[in-house]
Amino acid sequence: MLSDKKIVLGVCGGIAAYKCADLVSRLVKEGAKVKVVMTKSAQEFITPLTFQTLSNNRVITDLFAEPQNWEVEHISLAQWADCLVIAPATANVIGKLAAGIADDMLTTVVAATKAKVIIAPAMNTNMYNNRIVRKNIDYLIDMGYLFISPAEGRLACGDEGLGRLEEPGNIVEFIKRVFDKGEDLKGKTVLVTAGPTREIIDPVRFITNGSSGKMGYAVAEAAVEQGAKVILVSGPTTLTPPQGVELVKVTSAREMYEKVMEYFPLCDIVIKAAAVSDYRPVNVSSQKIKKTHDNLEIKLERNPDILYELGKLKTKQILVGFAAESTNIFEYAKEKLEKKNLDLIVANDITRDETGFSSDTNAGFIMDRDFSMENIPKMSKHQMADVILEKVKQLIK
Ligand code: CTP
Repeated sequence: MLSDKKIVLGVCGGIAAYKCADLVSRLVKEGAKVKVVMTKSAQEFITPLTFQTLSNNRVITDLFAEPQNWEVEHISLAQWADCLVIAPATANVIGKLAAGIADDMLTTVVAATKAKVIIAPAMNTNMYNNRIVRKNIDYLIDMGYLFISPAEGRLACGDEGLGRLEEPGNIVEFIKRVFDKGEDLKGKTVLVTAGPTREIIDPVRFITNGSSGKMGYAVAEAAVEQGAKVILVSGPTTLTPPQGVELVKVTSAREMYEKVMEYFPLCDIVIKAAAVSDYRPVNVSSQKIKKTHDNLEIKLERNPDILYELGKLKTKQILVGFAAESTNIFEYAKEKLEKKNLDLIVANDITRDETGFSSDTNAGFIMDRDFSMENIPKMSKHQMADVILEKVKQLIK
């Protein structure tokens, strides 16, 4: 339910604007208080009266209209909102938001709000795939805006493809999930490690692995969303760090070890998603190694097992490890859980495409200290991050 949640719905000028009548009606039925802001072009598609009747509130259309109460309306609306939803979001409005333009009621409210902003785009497929539009969307995601991807189907212009406004029922479910996350981890400090490590051989070569860092970054983002203070110790990745984390960049396993040890005493929860290199070259050449006719042998020595060391030191902390395996997943996960003194271990099969290092999805199981297991079906790494944090919260309780 969305009982008493205050939602500002920004309707833009797209043919899907009519679907927002259904959206408002559903939100009101869920118990939400809805105030609708319409852009000038939205009013060409649907009248304010429709939304006024459905929301039981005056519809705001003009930045310079005489306010009903003597307050600055875009600021009061921005403060009133628990959440702002923009649907259908046009390429124009997405572009304005990405550029920081605030020239009408909707864009000024977005600029002034501290509430979560959820954007549901709808437009022609080619417009949606336009590189500038995609770049703007990526940028807004990096800035912490949430996006509801459009659905595929027949578009009003006659084209088939991606671009239809997501169904109002699904938009409502998305909004509910955003509110459900709550602030359960408020006051907690979470240390997340992510990505691969890099062990230098010479100025141009190194040993690494295929970890993308996506799982760890998703966990860090989910923990921030739930109110935690998050320290993300990350090996080299191409990912943009989630908003609100304290990012600590490292390269080698030893650097990761040092940083993790430094922050560990401050932490309540440690989630070690990084794929740490177990070995490093004994000798690092300061010059590029030249080839010869002979075979080359590189002698490797052991890196510290960071998680094992944390397991020995742990006092109040909850320790979560990962087991990325290609065989005997259950046995190895159990062994790692015991040996490293973990509270939870998340195990997955890295040989499968949809659960591999660079995939956006994952699947596997999560095992606790009693070796009881919860199966995790295939889901996005973001959803999996929520599942892991849910388990951690149960342990804290
Ligand atoms: N880990 C760590 N330090 C290492 C190696 C692993 O902290 N030097 C952590 C990983 O971040 C992960 C867990 O230990 O949470 C298991 O890592 P994994 O690579 O699956 O296993 P290993 O312990 O390295 O064992 P093996 O390589 O033999 O499977």
